[in-house]
Amino acid sequence: MTDIRSIVVFGASGNIGAAIVPSLLSAGLSVTVATRPGSSASFSSGVKVATTDYSQESLTSLLQNIDAVVSVVGPQGYTSQHAIIDAATVSGVKYFIPSEFGLDYTDPRIFNILPLFKVKNEVLEHLKRKEKEGLSWTGIVTGLWLDWGLPFGMFDVDLNAHKATIWDGGNTKFRVANVRDIAEAVTSLVLNPQVRQQASNTIVHISSLETTQNEVLEAAEKATGAKFDVTHIESQTVWSDLQDKAARGDAGAIREVLTGSTVSKQIPSQIDEKADKWNALLLNGKKEETVEETVKRIVKGDGPQGKWVTQNSS
Ligand SMILES: NC(=O)c1ccc[n+]([C@@H]2O[C@H](COP(=O)([O-])OP(=O)(O)OC[C@H]3O[C@@H](n4cnc5c(N)ncnc54)[C@H](OP(=O)(O)O)[C@@H]3O)[C@@H](O)[C@H]2O)c1
Repeated sequence: MTDIRSIVVFGASGNIGAAIVPSLLSAGLSVTVATRPGSSASFSSGVKVATTDYSQESLTSLLQNIDAVVSVVGPQGYTSQHAIIDAATVSGVKYFIPSEFGLDYTDPRIFNILPLFKVKNEVLEHLKRKEKEGLSWTGIVTGLWLDWGLPFGMFDVDLNAHKATIWDGGNTKFRVANVRDIAEAVTSLVLNPQVRQQASNTIVHISSLETTQNEVLEAAEKATGAKFDVTHIESQTVWSDLQDKAARGDAGAIREVLTGSTVSKQIPSQIDEKADKWNALLLNGKKEETVEETVKRIVKGDGPQGKWVTQNSS
């Protein structure tokens, strides 16, 4: 029996929120989504919608009689989580899942590669300070999201242009997550007090599958029926320049640093066997979708981005 019944989701209209909210609702939980005044977000029926300007007054009122908070705010909203944490503590919320869902920057090899990790880490430090006031938390590390990110070129395999940039030979193994598994992991944590206790006040790793860039490329060629135009790069020739540009806020460089830190030999395999334990507990030990199945699903239009990929005509 779950001890958590009422949940507020912040950032619910975003990329991962759109998968988490239906998952929580289908588990029979009472879900309120918190959105900013004037936001263009729209929500399906069955969900309660509350607007908040993120002031303490508004947040404290919103979080009365709420058991748990799931924060999936996007980058511009990361710092607003400090106000949510303060209001959650005052209001007696028991459990908080912060907007993590990415790389494990608690790994020192990752922490300095992007300034945004410092901003996210300050939120974790704030949560740690609130533990003694009765708020527990779990940060979920997922690595890059394969089915969401591939259509955006996150893996340097472009499904529409049929081009790929392969880093360091393309055989570096890495783990990634698919969006519905991330949503399932969040719901499992909320529903299961025993598992939640084990995951309390720490980072957990989950992954949907392990692959390499060459496998993603092969799956992409098979699913689209196209031969891709492939360029090879060695990470050591571009890495320090990319990091400099990313530190100055260059969006393209930030994306390439995220990709390179996953697929290249610069920082191999930061999500590893640690994910096996949490996959078993949070994804109910279900059978992995293969990279081939995932890419085929994306190309068919059954990815979180919908029909983004044009079918090959060549
Ligand atoms: N590993 C990966 O590949 C990957 C990919 C994408 C994202 N992520 C991570 O997942 C988490 C959620 O990201 P996301 O892409 O789902 O979020 P998103 O779509 O960029 O934004 C989610 C929502 O945040 C809300 N928000 C609250 N305060 C805001 C502010 N000041 N400015 C702008 N929006 C604000 C907005 O909702 P309202 O308009 O309703 O207020 C927005 O719809 C983040 O921690 C992100 O780093 C990871």
